Amino acid sequence: METVVSGIRPTGNLHLGNYFGAIKSFVQMQNEYNCYFFIADWHSLTTRPKPESIVNSARTILAEYLACGIDPEKATIYIQSDVKEVLELYLYLNMNAYLGELERTTTFKEKARQQPDNVNAGLLTYPTLMAADILIHRAVKVPVGKDQEQNMEMARKFARRFNNMYEVELFPEPASFSFTDKAIKIPGLDGSGKMGKSDGNCIYLYEDEKSIRKKVMKAVTDAGPTVPNSEKPEVIQNLFTFLDIVSSKDTYNYFEEKWNDCSIRYGDLKKQLAEDIVTFTNPIRERIEEYTNNTELLDKIALQGAEKARESAVKTIQEVRRIIGFK
Ligand code: TRP
Repeated sequence: METVVSGIRPTGNLHLGNYFGAIKSFVQMQNEYNCYFFIADWHSLTTRPKPESIVNSARTILAEYLACGIDPEKATIYIQSDVKEVLELYLYLNMNAYLGELERTTTFKEKARQQPDNVNAGLLTYPTLMAADILIHRAVKVPVGKDQEQNMEMARKFARRFNNMYEVELFPEPASFSFTDKAIKIPGLDGSGKMGKSDGNCIYLYEDEKSIRKKVMKAVTDAGPTVPNSEKPEVIQNLFTFLDIVSSKDTYNYFEEKWNDCSIRYGDLKKQLAEDIVTFTNPIRERIEEYTNNTELLDKIALQGAEKARESAVKTIQEVRRIIGFK
């Protein structure tokens, strides 16, 4: 079975955009591949989070992963900082990662712009840590969004470089499995295109009904159609995309007809949409709550995941040490 690795930085709660992007592809892949999914808490240190928030956010994401159907019996799910072998590989890879190529990555340049007071070496070597995450399990496929393409290029380059330097074939070159190509793009509610983490624009998996309804009712619309069968402007298309995802075919068709004969009432559409989103997220929210309240179970799952991940990581690191010349 082919090996897959992917990580999520714990930067707050998951929203519907994450669900229909990353998470859904993870849930599918766990049945067909040998999957390692981890919470990238080391990566999150580049922005200096508070110590309390680190444990909490790792736990939160773990609970949310599980609630969405990532199954620890099928996939190996772990917290990055539990697998110290990754750091050793990170060090070795850094010895053959050049300042010039690291400085040129767009994510680095962007981060350096965003936090000019904290342009740290961790930020610079983010791509080497990410490569270590992937290469430690010798993964061949990595489900990521399009924004990670350059980091993936780097991971392939580092794998190739190591192999060439020592004349071995230890690391396969990991291919990106872009879920953004396959997934439905989840629109934001403020008409800004994509669902992101800004409040008002996104619906979290863990969000109470009242707040979901309020956000949906506030979604941006327009003055309404005046010509029958006209094309939908983006903000309206966004609402229909949502309907398509969470509502029944009948509901979708009903509003489609109303749009086409210009009798649509956005208030009705939003009310129905809010209802259907609540129905969709309710069971997920309940499961998140169950896991969150059971820290013992969460810790046990994290521990078992770490053990499984270390088994694979130790094998790679032993090989690497031998190849490099450490006995
Ligand atoms: N860089 C990824 C992101 O920002 C997270 C990540 C870290 C990752 N290590 C990884 C993704 C390894 C895939 C594989 O979303």
